[in-house]
Amino acid sequence: MKRIIVAIDGFSSCGKSTMAKDLAKSVGYAYVDSGAMYRSVTLFCQRNGLIQNGVVDEDSLRERIGDIHIEFKFNEETQRNETYLNGENVEDEIRTLAVSNQVSIVSSIGFVRRAMVALQQSYSKDKGIVMDGRDIGTVVFPDAELKIFLTASPEIRAQRRYDELKRKGMEEPYADILENVKQRDHLDMTRAESPLRKAEDAIELDNGEMTIEEQRKWLLDIFNERVK
Ligand code: DC
Repeated sequence: MKRIIVAIDGFSSCGKSTMAKDLAKSVGYAYVDSGAMYRSVTLFCQRNGLIQNGVVDEDSLRERIGDIHIEFKFNEETQRNETYLNGENVEDEIRTLAVSNQVSIVSSIGFVRRAMVALQQSYSKDKGIVMDGRDIGTVVFPDAELKIFLTASPEIRAQRRYDELKRKGMEEPYADILENVKQRDHLDMTRAESPLRKAEDAIELDNGEMTIEEQRKWLLDIFNERVK
């Protein structure tokens, strides 16, 4: 069986990471959450006063981009891959609404994207990788053997994010989350640098009415076909 690259792109809060993690675990591949990388850069900016009133101080960020070190480590206890920013576990902090509200601005900056894309490409040396994001099938791995483009309505996605935050004890009003989801869709699709779009050879799936189990089986069947 050959080892392949699986690229999963789509709108925010579509369940891309659930899908990607499930597949990676089932087939023994590495999983990389590219959104966590843009979230970490956003947190770095917030902590270092590089975003004021929704505007990024790009000159200062450009000077300091080399100081931002992002790693993923598997936590045996929680059984999840966790994100580290300069040696500190920031897995929960990067998921807050404060970060979600500013990540689209940071991820639209060209030099930030180039730095992250280079890092993402460096993870694929031996293939056998599942990566999720917005531009994985179009920019990061245009030659990926399997590309998925995931969609669901903004209301369903906002409900999922609301439930996820609540489970983690970080409840936020549903209306604020829905607003954030719509805002990010717009910014992700209209930005000049690598806008969110479906790669021509990606398989599209609307998972709005699907259970996680159904989604898992759907993807595993396609994966098994592709690695034959
Ligand atoms: O998948 P997520 O919601 O954690 O992603 C956070 C943000 O990062 C999202 O608003 C868009 C951006 N992003 C991106 O521009 N490119 C990627 N490959 C992944 C995420």
